[in-house]
Amino acid sequence: MINITEYLEWIYRDFKIQNEQAYLCQLKGLTFESGCLPDYQNIQIQRLYLLRYAFAYGFEYTTIYAEALERLHKPDEVSVASIGCGTFIDYWSLVQAIERRQKIQCKVRYVGIDEIDWSYKFAKRMIDEIYFNQGNAKHFFASNAQFISDIYFFPKSISEFTAEEMNIMTENLKNKPIIKDKLILCFSLRADIANREADLKKTQQVIDAFKENGFEQKNLNYRFTYFPENRGIAAYDSQYVYPQQAYDYIKNLSQKCSKYIEQGANCKNSCSEYLNRSPILKTGTIFYQLIDLERKRSL
Ligand SMILES: C[S@@+](CC[C@H](N)C(=O)[O-])C[C@H]1O[C@@H](n2cnc3c(N)ncnc32)[C@H](O)[C@@H]1O
Repeated sequence: MINITEYLEWIYRDFKIQNEQAYLCQLKGLTFESGCLPDYQNIQIQRLYLLRYAFAYGFEYTTIYAEALERLHKPDEVSVASIGCGTFIDYWSLVQAIERRQKIQCKVRYVGIDEIDWSYKFAKRMIDEIYFNQGNAKHFFASNAQFISDIYFFPKSISEFTAEEMNIMTENLKNKPIIKDKLILCFSLRADIANREADLKKTQQVIDAFKENGFEQKNLNYRFTYFPENRGIAAYDSQYVYPQQAYDYIKNLSQKCSKYIEQGANCKNSCSEYLNRSPILKTGTIFYQLIDLERKRSL
């Protein structure tokens, strides 16, 4: 399977070509400040998003899946629903967890749901099954007759769901058959304190829906996981090498704008503020919940 360095090099090549002789104003829209959501339909925004975040998210999701597999007693088959799957980066992470962390043979059935049909999707292994459902997750929850996955994964997506979408999804989780007796819920969340409380309210809504449908939480006193030291990811896994040329390019992106090249300066201060955001290479943004659920036994 492709490694993270090759993946980023691939995206960087395409990103750079399309930036030649272009004004980069639209890329300032890749921000999550004050509730903003980027225009993920825009292919250059997708590329910049991946160049900034895929490295750190790939590592975070691998860590989450390694723990989930442990809790499922290293199964030889696992079925996953990824809600807000993007490029299937959490599938790639699952394979990393299977092959490199747990070193087990495990066949994956992965269902990815996303409103956006992202470019740069990760390819699947021969033995696995992958299905992509494009559309609003609320419709898939509403039309689903039953829930069959072992793991329900929200990879940095739950913060983007509206109250109405959350209500529809959780009503369906409360009222429809859930096939497995043991389940893992994984929520990768925003680490900053300002946003995390809002995210945690939404995760609690999902957890409560499973509880109303007959499940109990096994890891009862657990709240969330984060990495208190903001250390380089490469210190945890030496395969994580960010391509240097791509790093330098992204870090100084405002200088690649044609306007900057023409006039020796950007038009506004906000150009460097919004464009020159370095790729995340450290563990400081890791913040997740892994909830272990089991069907309550009737007495
Ligand atoms: C921050 S991105 C994360 C993408 C990917 N999981 C990753 O880690 O790179 C959030 C994703 O959630 C998707 N999303 C947000 N609301 C959604 C909804 N109601 N239904 C389906 N997908 C949704 C967006 O389209 C986007 O791809």
